Amino acid sequence: MKPPLQLLFILILFFFFSTITISSPSLPLPPTPSPTSPPSTPSSPSSSSKSTLDPKQITALQSLNIPTSKDPCSQPSFHNATLCDSSKPFRHLISLTLSNCSSYVSLSFTALKSLSTLHSLNLINCPISPIHFPQELISSLTSFTCINSFHKISGVWLSQLQNLTDLTVSNVQVKASGPYVILSHMNYLKSLTISHANLTGFLPGHIHSNLTHFDFSGNQLKGNIPFSITMLDSLESLNLSSNLLTGEIPSSIGDLISLKNISLASNLFSGSIPDSFSAVPGLVHLDLSSNQLNGSIPKFISQMKNIKYLNLANNNLGGVVPFNLSFIKGLEVFKIGGNSNLCYNRSVLSSKLKLGISHCDKYGMPVSPPPAKDSSADDSSDDDYDDSDDDGGGRKHKKDQHHGPNKFVLGVAIALSSIVFLIVFLIVCSKCCR
Ligand SMILES: *[C@@H]1O[C@H](CO)[C@@H](O)[C@H](O)[C@H]1NC(C)=O
Ligand SMILES: *[C@@H]1O[C@H](CO)[C@@H](O)[C@H](O)[C@H]1NC(C)=O
Ligand SMILES: *[C@@H]1O[C@H](CO)[C@@H](O)[C@H](O)[C@H]1NC(C)=O
Ligand SMILES: *[C@@H]1O[C@H](CO)[C@@H](O)[C@H](O)[C@H]1NC(C)=O
Ligand SMILES: *[C@@H]1O[C@H](CO)[C@@H](O)[C@H](O)[C@H]1NC(C)=O
Ligand SMILES: *[C@@H]1O[C@H](CO)[C@@H](O)[C@H](O)[C@H]1NC(C)=O
Ligand SMILES: *[C@@H]1O[C@H](CO)[C@@H](O)[C@H](O)[C@H]1NC(C)=O
Ligand SMILES: *[C@@H]1O[C@H](CO)[C@@H](O)[C@H](O)[C@H]1NC(C)=O
Ligand SMILES: *[C@@H]1O[C@H](CO)[C@@H](O)[C@H](O)[C@H]1NC(C)=O
Ligand SMILES: *[C@@H]1O[C@H](CO)[C@@H](O)[C@H](O)[C@H]1NC(C)=O
Repeated sequence: MKPPLQLLFILILFFFFSTITISSPSLPLPPTPSPTSPPSTPSSPSSSSKSTLDPKQITALQSLNIPTSKDPCSQPSFHNATLCDSSKPFRHLISLTLSNCSSYVSLSFTALKSLSTLHSLNLINCPISPIHFPQELISSLTSFTCINSFHKISGVWLSQLQNLTDLTVSNVQVKASGPYVILSHMNYLKSLTISHANLTGFLPGHIHSNLTHFDFSGNQLKGNIPFSITMLDSLESLNLSSNLLTGEIPSSIGDLISLKNISLASNLFSGSIPDSFSAVPGLVHLDLSSNQLNGSIPKFISQMKNIKYLNLANNNLGGVVPFNLSFIKGLEVFKIGGNSNLCYNRSVLSSKLKLGISHCDKYGMPVSPPPAKDSSADDSSDDDYDDSDDDGGGRKHKKDQHHGPNKFVLGVAIALSSIVFLIVFLIVCSKCCR
């Protein structure tokens, strides 16, 4: 009698536990140890002798752990890391990208000297040490990118790269008393990005006039926007976001007639949005959010034909929003929340838009503090709002709240019923065995 019953118990216990383990989320497998050893010595002599690249440069590439078993000059190269000219008898590298370097990679002066035909050098996620560049390379480089590489660079080191047309430095600490240290001798720059670099000081009083892209976002720059910037009439994008800039936005900003994208977000700018913005015909992206701008939102913004992105949130703007529904619907991004004196006209815009501001009374003042994200605000607007079939919004939230409990109840029900099933099974079996 007893042995079969015990067996049954064990079986049932096994069954029970196996269902539990199946229903619980499967644990991720422990990561397999990644091979951290340096890659095997690349390229056999035979394959590199077939290459059309200058043998000295092949040796240099190998010292940088760039695979050369396949001809680095054939396109597309491994991760697009290399690009060659077409000189004879040997071709030469004109572009090199080092990305995701292992910590074994180090730049050597000798290697860089034999790579002095490079016009473009890009370092992306390469935590290597900066070194003194050979003069030949400095003269040759027209494009230099350093993203999350070189833990720290000095402005003086960057300033020697005087033939650059493109400079991108991002997520790298740049030590300099101000951007002028870096820029004063770079006379050919077209595109300039020094972002998230903790750069201090003031915007430079003189900037080369052919710049089309200027991005100093995410630094600690202080002071006003100088005239040197508003004189850049080729400028298409200007990004000064996330700095400590102060003062008013100069009305000369309207002189930037080529401007398409501008962000002055997350600074300390005060005063009103200058009317001269209306003189910039091609504006696509306007971000003035998170400043201390006051006054009203100018109506001319709605006449900008190309505007797609408009962010004026978190300022001290006031008055009635001067936009209609068709204008707002044409935008990809529209944010005006966080302006406590701003309100919208309920006969022009619907509360469905969730603008983050309250509607106006008949004097053009906000009726209440801006609606919080709770249901009470939704309810009140549902009550006195007529010209819309507003059913969604508020009720959707309530449904979502039931979602979690429902799943939990379902889980408990399944667990309970399987336990009941097991007990019944046990009883039936024990009776059978007798
Ligand atoms: C290499 O560049 C070509 C053309 O620019 C691009 O289409 C391709 O996706 C790139 N390949 C890699 C691996 O990045
Ligand atoms: C570098 O690493 C990132 C993220 O790990 C990956 O997305 C990217 O494709 C890698 N690039 C190259 C060239 O290996
Ligand atoms: C810039 O390039 C020219 C030749 O193209 C060269 O004569 C000059 O020395 C270079 N400038 C620097 C600072 O290397
Ligand atoms: C900038 O400074 C902050 C705080 O001092 C630090 O957390 C951050 O890593 C720095 N950024 C860079 C790119 O070094
Ligand atoms: C700006 O670019 C134009 C043509 O692209 C060129 O003729 C002019 O010399 C450049 N200006 C300066 C100051 O380099
Ligand atoms: C400005 O830079 C920030 C951060 O670097 C970025 O998120 C934002 O999209 C940029 N805006 C424009 C208009 O380029
Ligand atoms: C300019 O803004 C548009 C719209 O937001 C965006 O798609 C585009 O990538 C931006 N261009 C630059 C260079 O920031
Ligand atoms: C906006 O703020 C400035 C000070 O930053 C003040 O002089 C001006 O009167 C304010 N304008 C409005 C319309 O509140
Ligand atoms: C909405 O505003 C735009 C720009 O001010 C205007 O051209 C358009 O006619 C307006 N549409 C309606 C339906 O009022
Ligand atoms: C709201 O719009 C209506 C119709 O365009 C207009 O008559 C009314 O004066 C506006 N109210 C406010 C406060 O601007």
